[in-house]
Amino acid sequence: NVLNGATFVLAAHEITQLPYDSGAEVAFAGRSNAGKSSALNALTGHNGLARTSKTPGRTQQMVVFDLPPLKGAEGTEPLTARLVDLPGYGYAKVPEAIRLHWRSEIDAYLKMRRSLRGVVLIVDIRHPLKEFDRMMLGFCAATELPCHVLLTKADKISRGPASAALEALRKEMRKDGVTGTAQVFSSSAKNGVEEARARIIELLHT
Ligand code: GTP
Ligand code: MG
Repeated sequence: NVLNGATFVLAAHEITQLPYDSGAEVAFAGRSNAGKSSALNALTGHNGLARTSKTPGRTQQMVVFDLPPLKGAEGTEPLTARLVDLPGYGYAKVPEAIRLHWRSEIDAYLKMRRSLRGVVLIVDIRHPLKEFDRMMLGFCAATELPCHVLLTKADKISRGPASAALEALRKEMRKDGVTGTAQVFSSSAKNGVEEARARIIELLHT
């Protein structure tokens, strides 16, 4: 699988430091400690690729990973593809100035990045749809940016409540006019990994 070939490129403190804006990119967004970096590791099959931490607010950069070029339609050039781990959002202990910095950087990134094909929104299945998640979904709806929600840490709850959380989320997304999909996921139990990979590859091709 293509995601297996992910390699670290750089960590950016502002969007001007990101790689040249061509090809196709999928960004991982979510609240601090939701499990973004763990999901990236599970999806790429590389345990130490994105740094994970018990301390929320670990990723205070935009971390970029290259993927092997994607084959396009017959006769077209292969497509450069990347994954981007966005800084965790909404962690109270991060100083105000830094929070404001990231709020504007993420906002600008989502609005201006031409190569951005979609957002993977990582949500802790036990705490669905906090303010940041709603903001992201609202943004995706407004800009028609496709979104795929991973309800992660599903290993922490049993099957029934997990399905109920997924149904509630899907209902809410429909209501808000989000062009998106959602699934149950677990980085620890490697639950939903194939489904998520397929969806990400689909997003990169759009
Ligand atoms: P920041 O970069 O700090 O915003 O966090 P993050 O969203 O990248 O979260 P990270 O992947 O570092 O995970 C946060 C904590 O949740 C770590 O202690 C992980 O081990 C744990 N965690 C992440 N995913 C899962 C999961 O699927 N199941 C369980 N049980 N724990 C998880
Ligand atoms: Mg992280």
